Amino acid sequence: MSERWTPSSWRTKPIQQVPVYPDAAALAAVEEQLAGFPPLVFAGEARKLKRALAKVAAGEAFLIQGGDCAESFAEHSADNIRDFFRLFLQMAVVLTFAGSSPVVKVGRVAGQFAKPRSAPTETIDGVELPSYRGDIINGIDFTEASRTPDPIRQLDAYRQSAATLNLLRAFATGGYANLENAHRWMLGFVKDSPQSSRYEELAGRITETLDFMRAIGLDPEAHPELRATDFYTSHEALLLGYEQALTRVDSTTGDWYATSGHMIWIGDRTRQPDHAHVEYCRGIRNPVGLKCGPSTTPEGLIRLIDLLNPENEAGRLTLIARFGAEKAAEHLPALVRAVEREGRSVVWSCDPMHGNTVKAGSGYKTRPFDLILSEVRTFFDVHRAEGTHAGGLHLEMTGKNVTECTGGARAISDAQLSDRYHTHCDPRLNAEQALEAAFLVAELLKKEKLARDRSIPAAAE
Ligand code: PEP
Ligand code: CO
Repeated sequence: MSERWTPSSWRTKPIQQVPVYPDAAALAAVEEQLAGFPPLVFAGEARKLKRALAKVAAGEAFLIQGGDCAESFAEHSADNIRDFFRLFLQMAVVLTFAGSSPVVKVGRVAGQFAKPRSAPTETIDGVELPSYRGDIINGIDFTEASRTPDPIRQLDAYRQSAATLNLLRAFATGGYANLENAHRWMLGFVKDSPQSSRYEELAGRITETLDFMRAIGLDPEAHPELRATDFYTSHEALLLGYEQALTRVDSTTGDWYATSGHMIWIGDRTRQPDHAHVEYCRGIRNPVGLKCGPSTTPEGLIRLIDLLNPENEAGRLTLIARFGAEKAAEHLPALVRAVEREGRSVVWSCDPMHGNTVKAGSGYKTRPFDLILSEVRTFFDVHRAEGTHAGGLHLEMTGKNVTECTGGARAISDAQLSDRYHTHCDPRLNAEQALEAAFLVAELLKKEKLARDRSIPAAAE
């Protein structure tokens, strides 16, 4: 596909998952207004993230990407953003220590509003209405007015993204991200966990290391790098009219960038190589994610890599594997081998959420914690067997104490799901479950590191 790319060339391609707006003129007016608004992120930041991801691709760093399945207008508060950011930092402390390497932090946040749906309409008690497609498109209430796509929502989503980003930037650089804070919060989690004995050893070693660093003068007061962190944003680039309006030329390089977030990804339902979403993403220079599911074939994947990363640029492409605990061992090895055989540089990340969704007896959509962990383990096993780097983890999670996924140290049951089931879309790990997952991944990363350290002298002999 060497046809000329423009920010609007996707409009000539077939497209999946488009909302039907009743007023095309109103939609066009909103898109025009958005096109005049300031960018949310800068090209230089997207390039910095790409360099960080290039390290992940080289096996020298680990990626955590996570956040809500769908952000909502109703839950936009400082407390939610703070709790989410705090959870992220705690997970990062544990994983940085375990892997002895940097952790790249990418939120599903400040733009994660548009959702692909398995059916265009939903029928309740004989009434058929459009499916909820995320707050940037329509409302979740089951009324005709709420479910009708309204372009004004794109302006609200833009403003919410800007406000969220503003607070995240302040947290990341204004002192809140202090390493000792993150460590103290993590110790609070360990103390309160019913499984605390499983985490104490690693937590204790982190404490000793920080005490040692402080003793030799490496403390946050004297070292600004211990008080700040890099935090990036990402979302699924599903609503392409919105993305196009925020696509801008970088004046320093002349290249096009999506400025709606640092990284964007293509979902499992919209990755047809000759369709609109792949067309849009191939032309922007941000880091791009691609969900890989059970229907991804090795040949199909290489074709998509040819389109999305023709220059084989390190850090450009993150492959997000989401097969389900049962299917990962069957599908992932062939994809990893194809990528290795073709010599392509990618980040491999594991999304253990989207292939493990089940309907609980209570009727709620949920994800059993054990299945989630099982897919993560398989992901690491496959990469160990193939000699490749298990590069990252992609989670749907919240800093709040919700009850949406069953299991975990507090053994949330089916019957408890109704207590605090707040998600607007898929079930998320709560803060404790997400940290438990981080401790498990810490063990797996340590194993990977040991295996690598052992193989170096062996290879040199
Ligand atoms: C998602 O990440 O929320 C999502 C819809 O995932 P997928 O495209 O993998 O189904
Ligand atoms: Co989801």
